[in-house]
Amino acid sequence: MENSETEKLEIDLLLNAIEKCYGYDFHHYARDSFTRRVKNFLQKSNYHQISELIPQILHDKDYFKSFLLNLSVTVTELFRDPFFYKAIRKEVIPYLKTYPFIKIWHAGCATGEEVYSMAILLKEEGIYHRSQIYATDFNDLALDKAKKGIYPIEQVMKETVNYQEAGGKKSFSDHYHSDNHYVIMNRELKKNITFANHNLVTDACFGEMHLILCRNVLIYFDEILQNRALKLFDESLIYKGYLCLGTKETLMFTNINEHFERIAHQEKIYQKIMVNY
Ligand SMILES: C[S@@+](CC[C@H](N)C(=O)[O-])C[C@H]1O[C@@H](n2cnc3c(N)ncnc32)[C@H](O)[C@@H]1O
Repeated sequence: MENSETEKLEIDLLLNAIEKCYGYDFHHYARDSFTRRVKNFLQKSNYHQISELIPQILHDKDYFKSFLLNLSVTVTELFRDPFFYKAIRKEVIPYLKTYPFIKIWHAGCATGEEVYSMAILLKEEGIYHRSQIYATDFNDLALDKAKKGIYPIEQVMKETVNYQEAGGKKSFSDHYHSDNHYVIMNRELKKNITFANHNLVTDACFGEMHLILCRNVLIYFDEILQNRALKLFDESLIYKGYLCLGTKETLMFTNINEHFERIAHQEKIYQKIMVNY
């Protein structure tokens, strides 16, 4: 058997073992990037072959947890892709303002920067007090960080330019307090945010959302899983609600493409134009 075939077989065995033992189904993650993450974990371990990881993953829950953490890429930023937030202010906020109560879902929120960016934007637009934000991820460690909303000061200093380019209306520091090393997001920003574990592979939809953001998550999924997640979003949105994807993601060629109209091309903001049946 060639090396690449052996590697494929080892990955299949690993995927089955994880699913059977822990219920996490990674079969529909993009294969190349999944394999890269596994090899990256292997390099940091005492093992040489992918299949050697399987017994310890099966018998040692803590080992599996660290494996899981290594699988999930939680890279994010405050006001990541500032032009996206600018488009949200221009295209989506006027629509949200017409509702007495607004529901927003951040799927794959990682360590929470995207969620606090939205909370700040809603506050500056005067509609935070009538918004409820659901922020979900399947990575509990990332969710713990998100709940705390504490970030290294050097990171926040770097990302201040994002806030300004995104059309921030105040001084960024009005939204947090800091000591020498860390920035803590203002408590009032957390008031209407619910952080929860939710797995896009297995869990159900959230109802009656006005806006859903799932940015830089679908790139890790294959076509089948992308369509599963997108169906969840489609079912969770109200008629005329908005769906936002990452810059490298698209609805084109997916099962729900026809249910949506593209509102902002580069920013990947879509509006649902199909009534729920
Ligand atoms: C690169 S981060 C994106 C963070 C943020 N949305 C952004 O664009 O900056 C991808 C996140 O997707 C989460 N993720 C991956 N697979 C998931 C799944 N099946 N269910 C829920 N979240 C998932 C990861 O844990 C990670 O936190």
